[in-house]
Amino acid sequence: MAEVTLGLDLGTSGVKVVALGADGRTVVQASRAYPLLTPQPGWTEQRPEDWVAASVEALREVAEVLLAAGHVPLALGLSGQMHGAVFLDQHGDPLRPAPLWNDQRTAAAVAEIERAIPRADLIARTGNRAVTGFQLPKLLWLRQTEPEVFARTRQVLLPKDYLGYVLTGQMHTEPSDASGVGALNLSSHSWDEEVLGALNLPSHLFPDVVRSWDTVGHLTAWAAQHTGLPEGLPVIAGGGDNAAAGIALGLTAARPELGSVSLGTSGVLFAPLTLPTPDPEGRVHLFAHADGGYNLLGVTLACAGALQWLRDKLAPDTSFDTLLTEAVSVPDGADGVTFLPYLAGERSPWMDPNLRASWTGLSLAHGRGHLTRALLEGTVMALSDTFEVMRPLVNVTSFLATGGGARSDLWLGLVAGGLGSDIQRSLQEPGAAEGAAILAMPASGVYRTLQEAMEALRPQGRSIQAVETTQAKHQHIEALKHQR
Ligand code: XUL
Repeated sequence: MAEVTLGLDLGTSGVKVVALGADGRTVVQASRAYPLLTPQPGWTEQRPEDWVAASVEALREVAEVLLAAGHVPLALGLSGQMHGAVFLDQHGDPLRPAPLWNDQRTAAAVAEIERAIPRADLIARTGNRAVTGFQLPKLLWLRQTEPEVFARTRQVLLPKDYLGYVLTGQMHTEPSDASGVGALNLSSHSWDEEVLGALNLPSHLFPDVVRSWDTVGHLTAWAAQHTGLPEGLPVIAGGGDNAAAGIALGLTAARPELGSVSLGTSGVLFAPLTLPTPDPEGRVHLFAHADGGYNLLGVTLACAGALQWLRDKLAPDTSFDTLLTEAVSVPDGADGVTFLPYLAGERSPWMDPNLRASWTGLSLAHGRGHLTRALLEGTVMALSDTFEVMRPLVNVTSFLATGGGARSDLWLGLVAGGLGSDIQRSLQEPGAAEGAAILAMPASGVYRTLQEAMEALRPQGRSIQAVETTQAKHQHIEALKHQR
């Protein structure tokens, strides 16, 4: 029998719930999937009702195991995909499916923001320039395209904050996710009245901002009945998924030398910061971290997703292991083959949705191993371009690696070579759900402070041998000159 805190991560493909003991051990976990809607090219949406149904089921599965074993849940922390927009009417009911972080419909709204607020001013206030995926342009899109829905919108919530509202009846957000809206003043951690005023949007559309480890409410009788968890269970604000994963990895401004690199569908570089110092051109994101500090986040859109694409389109019957093994014996620079990885346009550092991918330099002598090697090198060069922008602003010398691609020694070795940094494979691989459970620990009294919990639970890493990338880098720079 143990006391546990719960963490929930409302992801893009599904929801994951974990229960952690005070020692960070996973006592039980459960997950449920839900559909991704793509009603038009470039649009991505999910139904908030699907999030609720899947979350309730996953929580119920966890609750049943906990109760059967006599474990005591103390609190539930929330995390989730950032940037999405849940538009609510006067009764708190969703008005339409929620456009997501990777939705590209808002180009005109981004241009509208850029006309209303000088880019440098927006970056100085919010840490970011206007970005297609963020929540703010989604509101402008709604006003322009579905004015009757906009007229009925009383509140707009981020995905995990909507779930918190359904579970507790209270609407709140916290800085790590709120800073991905595009209208949070990063110095005051409150909605920037001047930014919103310039766009003719009232700040009361957005919820109150509390600290990430604060209690936002308690499980209602309805939520208790449907999940099997105790009525009144404290629900903790939590963090956006990258910040929550950062908490689980022990990333904090108190240890500025440690960042993380995630080789997932997209590639993400996370570096903690004490002060909100943006890249003056907004080529990487500056967000509030869930520990009360800040972080720079570089997001490249094609990483392990690019290898998945190669496998699905060109070698559907071949395993990832086989493809990666074929690439090991190919030398630095793939014998002259170069891959630009912009299959989905690019965020950091180019912020250009129209960039496209290519292989160049092919001859009859090249085989599949060259295509794969060049693809891996290309994804690493995209991360390296991003790190060049981050480097002058951060003190990171070592990155903990996570994500599916981090299982490959070759890929991680290329990252170590390409970034010129120490790359460590984390031995446990905690993610956003675990981070949300850790964010619930201070309010539960499991640890006195969040810093104490992070220090006690941070995972160990083992350094990876770097792989040479000098030739790959040279070819990448040459290929980019032709593209841009
Ligand atoms: C971060 C971002 C993604 C989402 C996905 O800016 O867009 O990492 O949070 O979950």
